[in-house]
Amino acid sequence: MNKVRVAVLGYGHLGKWHCDKAAAHSDVADFVAIVEKFPAGQEAARAKHPNVKVVSDIDEVMNEIDAAVIVTPTSTHFELVSKLLKAGKHVFCEKPVCSNDEEANKLRELAANSKLVVQVGQSERFHQAWEALRDTFANLKAPYTVKINRFAAFKGRATDVDVIQDLGIHDLDLVNFLFPHKVQSIKSQAGYKIRTKNWDHAVLDLKLEGGSRAYVTIGRNGVKEVRDLEVMSADGCVYVDLFTNKIMLGTSSQYEDGSFVKEMDYPKRDHLMLEHTHFYDSILNHKKSIVPLEDGLRAVHLVDCALKSLETDSRINVKF
Ligand SMILES: NC(=O)c1ccc[n+]([C@@H]2O[C@H](COP(=O)([O-])OP(=O)(O)OC[C@H]3O[C@@H](n4cnc5c(N)ncnc54)[C@H](O)[C@@H]3O)[C@@H](O)[C@H]2O)c1
Repeated sequence: MNKVRVAVLGYGHLGKWHCDKAAAHSDVADFVAIVEKFPAGQEAARAKHPNVKVVSDIDEVMNEIDAAVIVTPTSTHFELVSKLLKAGKHVFCEKPVCSNDEEANKLRELAANSKLVVQVGQSERFHQAWEALRDTFANLKAPYTVKINRFAAFKGRATDVDVIQDLGIHDLDLVNFLFPHKVQSIKSQAGYKIRTKNWDHAVLDLKLEGGSRAYVTIGRNGVKEVRDLEVMSADGCVYVDLFTNKIMLGTSSQYEDGSFVKEMDYPKRDHLMLEHTHFYDSILNHKKSIVPLEDGLRAVHLVDCALKSLETDSRINVKF
């Protein structure tokens, strides 16, 4: 295979962007189909991508593709990922890769020993800041304290799921991805249902191995956009503003210019583009997935633990 024949499933808010990225990879991917359930979306898809087949069900194009990108609502992910894997297709699924631990266990079983590429859309892993800070985080001495905040004004999107599944999954995955100590347990300190019947705001307290702690606050009813991460340890402070793309360090006794804080800007990147590039590269060159299924399933497990903690007001041990 020298080009991946790919379909994008879901032509909604994010699916439109995924289609643009699939089309932009014409050197490594043949963008053959858009699968969109509803006529309004199909019409918009045809207008924007006149050379791509637009259908309403994946079964109509299953024999014409090698891989699929799933950008449908979260409640459909388990069924679609299962169906595609059973049909022998490579899958790039938006986060969350499934809805709960029960589905996660079934997907794990289904994908065991498979040579298919499964990539999960944990897109917050793609900030350039994490590459700049990789050694700093890897060498952190426990105990350290991580604080992550992610607030946005209410947009009325993804209200079928709670804010932990929708946004918090990014931050729970970041704790898992960035820091050398594993999450042991989660206690939800507070949760509020403000605009929907699901949790719209949550404050999570994660215990990490070695006595470290991570506090994650996520909300979709904020009054301003905040996305930041701070790590405090005996070595000082590392702060990252993911919104303004700035790293601030207070880890040295004094910097060259005499100050106690060093500021660095880092370039904003097109995360979706990078995710597509890695997906096709993994398939064509038999490389390990950049965000493997197991990592997506762990993120789902962390969400499950946080939700159980909110429901039972107790600390929940993380199983894996
Ligand atoms: N990585 C990120 O930062 C990020 C950001 C936004 C959304 N997402 C994820 O992307 C997914 C989609 O979010 P969205 O905001 O685009 O939702 P959306 O509701 O705007 O779009 C979903 C589209 O899928 C279509 N659809 C539903 N079932 C289908 C099926 N079986 N086959 C084909 N099409 C189907 C719907 O008609 C709709 O057009 C969600 O799982 C969400 O969590 C991830």
